[in-house]
Amino acid sequence: MSSKDEPVNLRETLETIRKDALAAIDGAADAESLEKARVRFLGRKGLLSRALSGLRSVPPEERPEAGKVANEVKETLETSIRIRADQLASLADRSEVAPVDLTMPGRRPWRGGVHPVSIVIDEICDIFKELGFTRAAGPEVETDWHNFTALNIPLDHPAADMHDTFYLDEGVLLRTHTSPVQARVMMEHDPPVRILAPGMAFRRDPYDASHAPAFEQVEGLAVDEGIDFIEFRAAIDYFVHRFFGASTRTRFRPSYFPFTEPSAEVDVSCMICEGSGCAVCKRTGWIEIMGSGMVNPAVFEAVGYDPERYTGYAFGMGPARIAMLRYGIPDIRVLYEADVGFLEQFA
Ligand code: DAH
Repeated sequence: MSSKDEPVNLRETLETIRKDALAAIDGAADAESLEKARVRFLGRKGLLSRALSGLRSVPPEERPEAGKVANEVKETLETSIRIRADQLASLADRSEVAPVDLTMPGRRPWRGGVHPVSIVIDEICDIFKELGFTRAAGPEVETDWHNFTALNIPLDHPAADMHDTFYLDEGVLLRTHTSPVQARVMMEHDPPVRILAPGMAFRRDPYDASHAPAFEQVEGLAVDEGIDFIEFRAAIDYFVHRFFGASTRTRFRPSYFPFTEPSAEVDVSCMICEGSGCAVCKRTGWIEIMGSGMVNPAVFEAVGYDPERYTGYAFGMGPARIAMLRYGIPDIRVLYEADVGFLEQFA
């Protein structure tokens, strides 16, 4: 074999290495076999470096050319290894994603649910239903007679001020509370009466974390012969235990409303700290949940009931505030904004 043949042989060897290496690189099914191929062909003791040791026997004038070919092969193989490594990595990523299961049922889009305030209203109504109360409704656009006068609130009372009330026309307004439903029901029906009237009330209040100019109320009214304060307290206690839990305590605080006499503010022991004092109950251990009292005989007179024969109790509560307490909602405004992310939690 003449030394002239050497470069031809080296070239052939390099070409064989290139072909075999490319086949091994492309055929590598994972990173491990790719690394094995790299070591076999490009490693320090690999086929390429062994072939290059043959350069020494190549005549000096032909060495540069042979060296160039050897470098090209090396670069080609290195590039191919990099490309194959990238391919294998992205294949591995994809195989971590669960395969598509075409038999799986589709995801249903959220179709809407019951608003948290409505949940609370329904629950209040369900509990009072057990005590014989039915639901009643009245108009949101009211006369000042039903909203104020029938309820023993003189029109020069501050509550009737333009400042507090949305007047639509002379003597016509958006009701400032649900109490006018009391007057409407009593004028329509003879006693006994036991009703709950949930609905919107409107006031010129700011729209901030604890106020909304339109908000829900639930009005309650019971009228019959012989209803006394004890029955009233028992009914409220029953509701509180059923709604907030049997260990919740109730407290009646003397108060004033023109349409009840005597009047009371009803507090329940704080359900967050159980009465020991926290931020929610402003360290008092108590949370006010409603205004209430024994129906003022003046209201019976206004609606045509005999105040000598009938007695009763009435109360009004704010279910939005109760929903905030129950669900830990810090800002009343989220109840009135159509934020699906928030509302979905109650679906
Ligand atoms: N109407 C009162 C208000 O909006 C709440 C209220 C208090 C209703 C006492 C009643 C009641 O029926 O007896 O502040």
